Amino acid sequence: MYKVAFIGTGAILSSHLDAVAQAGDRVELVAAVDIVEEKVKAVCEKHGIPHWFTDSAEMLATVKPDLVHILTPPFTHLEIIVQCLEAGAHVYCEKPLCASLHEFDQISTKEAETGRYCSTVFQWRFGSAGKHLKRLIENGDLGRLLVVHCNTLWYRDENYYAVPWRGNWATETGGPTMILGIHLTDLMLWLLGDQWQEVYAMVETLERDIAVEDIAMALVRFEGGTLAHVVNSALSPRQESYLRLDFQKATVECSTLYRYTNKHWTYSIADQMTHTDELERWRQIEGGDVMGSHAAQLGEILDSIDAGERPFVSGDEARRIIEFSTSLYKSGFTHQAVQRGSITPDDPYYYAMNGQPK
Ligand SMILES: NC(=O)c1ccc[n+]([C@@H]2O[C@H](COP(=O)([O-])OP(=O)(O)OC[C@H]3O[C@@H](n4cnc5c(N)ncnc54)[C@H](O)[C@@H]3O)[C@@H](O)[C@H]2O)c1
Repeated sequence: MYKVAFIGTGAILSSHLDAVAQAGDRVELVAAVDIVEEKVKAVCEKHGIPHWFTDSAEMLATVKPDLVHILTPPFTHLEIIVQCLEAGAHVYCEKPLCASLHEFDQISTKEAETGRYCSTVFQWRFGSAGKHLKRLIENGDLGRLLVVHCNTLWYRDENYYAVPWRGNWATETGGPTMILGIHLTDLMLWLLGDQWQEVYAMVETLERDIAVEDIAMALVRFEGGTLAHVVNSALSPRQESYLRLDFQKATVECSTLYRYTNKHWTYSIADQMTHTDELERWRQIEGGDVMGSHAAQLGEILDSIDAGERPFVSGDEARRIIEFSTSLYKSGFTHQAVQRGSITPDDPYYYAMNGQPK
């Protein structure tokens, strides 16, 4: 049984409580930390968590957890991740993991020094329907992928941005690209493999009184020629997360909002196509009907800790979305296409998503 602690007890807490509950006797939730004392005391009392703290360093020294879930605002992640790894704990940190490629590379260095791993929450990679599609793509069953739409069309009003850490580059790290569309974009990039080559983006703040963008649109070229259209919006009253992949042999679509199960995915062929037997086979999703959730990801992290292996969404699998988002922003601000791998330590965008000194 692994000792688990939470740092941060805000809005996303319930997803992590559910994940720990579903992990059963593989974990014991021993402590929670929040800088707001009344909040953490109330959470611990309500959920029967034995120890509360207002300081993460004190918690780490006292409780010595095996795994820490970090649920604090993005600008705090790096410092807390480093503290946890140095204290000998593995980390399961909310998205966005960190504010820049520079921060990501510091986390990687710390992982190598400590022998502990830092995973980032991307629950959408863990649903049965997503894994099924990944297998079909890897087997080449659907033919060549030609066209992709990856649209996160969400609505966030002034009240959402009234939370002090939201709306600023330094504290939120970005707008809907980093905070909302990051889930679907990460899913798309993972499904397609390490194949994106070039991104051209437009990034605007059209409506909200915030420093970060409220809308970003990007065109992405992948190896082999696939073209993708990515929209990250906080301005769309009828909300939808919509992923559409047009392969040579079929169109695959996922339409949902915050989570998906098998029923949110469809496979279609054109009227003039005749491979209906194959279509029926693709529609049979293997691996049950698992929702992409924090619980599903936590289960796999615990398997990796058991096996002494790097968890799936860490290392290069976690860096991809940070590099892609940085490149999207750089393109949006410089009005130039940005190539994958081109943002290196001599580039101001390596240090901040908006390329500005902190
Ligand atoms: N995976 C998802 O689907 C999902 C959904 C929502 C939010 N999130 C992410 O979860 C994180 C938290 O978001 P939220 O909406 O719960 O925020 P929140 O503002 O509701 O809660 C954050 C909590 O962290 C506490 N805190 C701040 N600094 C701290 C520190 N140094 N030590 C201890 N506690 C500290 C605050 O007091 C607050 O209680 C963000 O990174 C966000 O992007 C992920």
